[in-house]
Amino acid sequence: MVKAVVLGAAGGIGQPLSLLLKANPNVTELSLYDIVNTPGVAADLSHIATPAKVVGYLPPDDGLKKALTGADIVVIPAGVPRKPGINAGIVRDLATGIATTAPKAFVLVISNPVNSTVPIVAEVFKQHGVFNPKKIFGVTTLDVVRASTFVAEILGDLGKAPSVVVPVVGGHSGVTIVPLLSQSSHPLPSGFAQDALEQLTNRIQFGGDEVVKAKDGAGSATLSMAYAGVEFANKIIRAVKGEKGLVAPTFVNLAADAAGGEALKKEIGSDLEYFSAPVELGAEGVVAIKSLGKISEYETKLIKAAVPELQTNIEKGVSFIGASKL
Ligand SMILES: NC(=O)c1ccc[n+]([C@@H]2O[C@H](COP(=O)([O-])OP(=O)(O)OC[C@H]3O[C@@H](n4cnc5c(N)ncnc54)[C@H](O)[C@@H]3O)[C@@H](O)[C@H]2O)c1
Repeated sequence: MVKAVVLGAAGGIGQPLSLLLKANPNVTELSLYDIVNTPGVAADLSHIATPAKVVGYLPPDDGLKKALTGADIVVIPAGVPRKPGINAGIVRDLATGIATTAPKAFVLVISNPVNSTVPIVAEVFKQHGVFNPKKIFGVTTLDVVRASTFVAEILGDLGKAPSVVVPVVGGHSGVTIVPLLSQSSHPLPSGFAQDALEQLTNRIQFGGDEVVKAKDGAGSATLSMAYAGVEFANKIIRAVKGEKGLVAPTFVNLAADAAGGEALKKEIGSDLEYFSAPVELGAEGVVAIKSLGKISEYETKLIKAAVPELQTNIEKGVSFIGASKL
């Protein structure tokens, strides 16, 4: 039995994400929460012939609490695209609901800026005395999905996209996104020039802008994000059901694996509290934070550039909750 909850379920990401979760036969209950429209989205999805019982909730009558009761996994795409200040408050309030109603659930944060919203969730959980770093994740999978696709495009064979694996580490915005292309499961063509590598790296880092531009300001990535979010959520669900050895890059508090976290801090040469690294997942959450492995000189430079930005983003999240306490 797996109960999944989507907070922000009526939105551009929330709806296709809920659809894809409904399609997972291992999900037995799917609760949809938003400030608008969830009864309609839930009624629509409830006609799909898969096991999950779908219910939509709105804020009145303790809707958030009812949605979260008994949750195993909570995915948060609630917010307003590209409005970090507003999202911080939304995520704080939703995290308070999770901390009081479903403190043991896996929490998957999609709402941007992930580099700050994940620390916000963690600080709220600390305030409520229920913080477990092994179960709070920033969803960076869209960067991983983009890297696979763009590498397959360069190899001239989109058929390879599903099997191309490129670890993407660091954080989840602009220069904090560090694709380790030297470790691609499918190497780039021999003689791939440095400037082409830099262009590809930049395209992965700023892939979101391509979508915003193509949508002419009317939205940001929603469908690819829903796909990526469910790819990560489905890995978590497989881990909860006992599968071992699953690894995915995700933005976590490095205390989730003390030894692995300390080793990673040495690798990146910084004492950051959070970082996105390949993480091994298990039934209780983070099993191990993996080493970055052998990286190129260029990738070392990218990590150096990411660290101060990450530091600022993390501090912003932490101090937002510190200030809310007053
Ligand atoms: N992690 C990523 O890779 C990634 C990628 C794209 C977008 N995002 C982020 O995801 C978020 C959502 O994007 P979208 O395109 O779906 O936006 P959207 O505006 O289409 O949908 C957001 C939904 O959140 C709901 N919402 C707002 N306040 C809420 C609250 N207090 N409680 C519950 N629901 C609430 C809205 O009603 C809306 O249905 C944004 O923060 C965006 O920046 C993240």
